[in-house]
Amino acid sequence: MDITVFPGANQLAAAVAERLAGHLCRARSLVLGLPTGRTPLGFYRNLVRIAREGRVDFSGATTFNLDEFLGLGPEEPGSYRQYMERHFFRFVNIDRRNIHFLDGSTPDPEGECARYERAIAEAGGIDVQILGIGSNGHIGFNEPADHLTARSHVVRLRPETRRANAALFAGDADRVPHQALSMGMATILHARTIVLMATGSEKAGCVSAMVEGPLTTRTPASFLQLHPDVHVMLDQAAARKLADQVRF
Ligand code: F6R
Repeated sequence: MDITVFPGANQLAAAVAERLAGHLCRARSLVLGLPTGRTPLGFYRNLVRIAREGRVDFSGATTFNLDEFLGLGPEEPGSYRQYMERHFFRFVNIDRRNIHFLDGSTPDPEGECARYERAIAEAGGIDVQILGIGSNGHIGFNEPADHLTARSHVVRLRPETRRANAALFAGDADRVPHQALSMGMATILHARTIVLMATGSEKAGCVSAMVEGPLTTRTPASFLQLHPDVHVMLDQAAARKLADQVRF
């Protein structure tokens, strides 16, 4: 794993956005895998700024988001689809036909997951997958468990994950759906390049388990050690439990 530690979250967000904008300048038709959550907010803010400065063009890009709550349609305020509209999609010139999402309102979750896998394959696979990490070590919504699932699937969210998403539901964790649809471990690991961002001291434990721990289904992110092109972008707080710190 290639690890970079930035002085703070703002520098990290700006650097990852500049790097992605650089990729897009070289290859306009990139296929991007995108996360939601608190961590990427600064990244999206910077990408929007770079787009306003006319230095990046999303018209040829295709996006696939990692996950969505089961039971929520794309128009629901708590949905990840609405998060992406609020923070990113509505500010950039992406062709809306190239925005892909798992549909949380589907009556057929398994069929919807199979459709998503086909859509990713038809797009030629994911070029750059951006990830956050849950403090329990999840990526996407692949939660710590005895077994992990390779492809997109229905997941039961753990209580800590529902609490972490309460902000999308007016701070009320009880309103966070119990289930979600998520890309699976292989869907993520088949991306050509993976960029994982983590900030804040509450991520220090899972970052150290991901980078330095054994491969274990109890820390799904540890499987990223198997991928040949992973870039881990940390602020100092998230890096503080790593034995060997790499400075920016
Ligand atoms: C969100 C996602 C999750 C988050 C993770 C960290 O689409 O896939 O894996 O990246 O839960 O969330 P934050 O950034 O809110 O700490």
